[in-house]
Amino acid sequence: MVHIRFTSIAFGVAALSSALAFPAYESLSGLSERQLVEAASESNRGGGGGGPGAKVPPPPPGPPSFTGAKLVDDARHPWMPTRPGDIRGPCPGLNTLASHGYLPRDGVASPEQIIKAVQDGFNMDNELARFTTYMAHLLDGNPVTDLISIGGKTPKTGPDPPRPAIVGGISNHGTFEGDGSMTRADAFFGDNHSFNPALFEQFKDFSNRLGGGFYNLTVAAELRFHRIQQSIGNNPQFSIVGFRHLTLYAEAAFPVTLFVDGRRTGAQAGHLDMRSAESFFKDMRFPRGFFRAAQPSGAGPAPEIFAAHPTVPGRNVAGVNTFTPDTSLGSITDFCTFYTQFVSKTLKGLYPNPTGVLRRNLNINLNFLYQSLGAGAQGCPQVFPYGQN
Ligand code: HEM
Ligand SMILES: *[C@@H]1O[C@H](CO)[C@@H](O)[C@H](O)[C@H]1NC(C)=O
Ligand SMILES: *[C@@H]1O[C@H](CO)[C@@H](O)[C@H](O)[C@H]1NC(C)=O
Repeated sequence: MVHIRFTSIAFGVAALSSALAFPAYESLSGLSERQLVEAASESNRGGGGGGPGAKVPPPPPGPPSFTGAKLVDDARHPWMPTRPGDIRGPCPGLNTLASHGYLPRDGVASPEQIIKAVQDGFNMDNELARFTTYMAHLLDGNPVTDLISIGGKTPKTGPDPPRPAIVGGISNHGTFEGDGSMTRADAFFGDNHSFNPALFEQFKDFSNRLGGGFYNLTVAAELRFHRIQQSIGNNPQFSIVGFRHLTLYAEAAFPVTLFVDGRRTGAQAGHLDMRSAESFFKDMRFPRGFFRAAQPSGAGPAPEIFAAHPTVPGRNVAGVNTFTPDTSLGSITDFCTFYTQFVSKTLKGLYPNPTGVLRRNLNINLNFLYQSLGAGAQGCPQVFPYGQN
């Protein structure tokens, strides 16, 4: 049996040629280093050295004091429809938190706000919250202003209160956002982040046939594998290398661990009904009266989902059905290689020669990322691509 280390987040996995997905000197959510710094000097949300909008990233929040189930669809967090300019993206969890005001409703937040919100609103466990958030922030955020969008990059102007001129976001394809999502189409087909009705019908069909009308771990394992085969067969640019090979399995677990009402116990636990699923995935809304998970939760079942149909990272190299393994950036069974390659190849490709506040903040965020690995970092030394201070 394959040994899989998932820290409390658990992850291991995969590969990909960083040169292909992360062209050096080019894509920081489509922004240049100069734009990141300019965004800081135009921002009015910051405070800290390096321009009015630059900020020293504060340490990540720890776990909340109360970690049991509680009503989260409460009076202080009413659901509200998006206003013109509000940003939403590929993550149903973050979309829901923004639409209920656990995150700024405009969809632009700091890593600190995201970690607090996923813990408070969903009881996501602290290590996973920190790891996921700093991965996203390093790949897609603006390290200078310490802000990231939960969707596409922000336009120059925004709703009240005005936000920094440009902030990157998690819809950026090939970084965190990737192929084979359950309810979002692959970027190749034109829209990589919106709720896709046809894919949701497939989600329901699998749940009806294999879960008796519910999404549970059996459904998760089969649908996850099916979506990968489906994309290998119809997306010539299909790629699940590097970080994506980890997130595929973690994200298939979240509907079981985080979208099921925390009061469902015993035989009812771990089964997500379709009305609730639609509420999260499509409406970005807690089911009426929703209670968050009864204990800190997250990617725990991901190894089980992976083990049902083990896959290798790779991509279609010459059109559909040309899937070719590529484990150069580690694998789900080799977390240390994943971490090491992410820092020394992927991130270094995105930020070849950072200086000043950008370099300082990258180093601070890299420390936060390494610390989030917890037990997962055992025997895996920290990598310092930009020196140690
Ligand atoms: C901790 C901060 C988080 C970040 C930065 C984040 C980011 C993302 C991103 C970038 C994706 C798109 C990946 C893709 O499918 O291409 C995604 C998908 C997803 N996220 Fe999150 N997420 C976070 C927390 C959460 C939470 C708390 C939940 C659940 C309560 C959640 C549930 C999901 C699910 C179910 C998907 C898969 C959607 C699908 O396959 O259709 N996420 N997330
Ligand atoms: C992914 O979605 C974002 C946000 O809408 C968009 O800016 C980007 O162009 C999309 N990427 C691809 C490759 O479709
Ligand atoms: C999912 O639900 C189906 C149908 O009730 C059941 O046969 C299966 O054992 C369930 N899987 C899990 C992991 O509970």
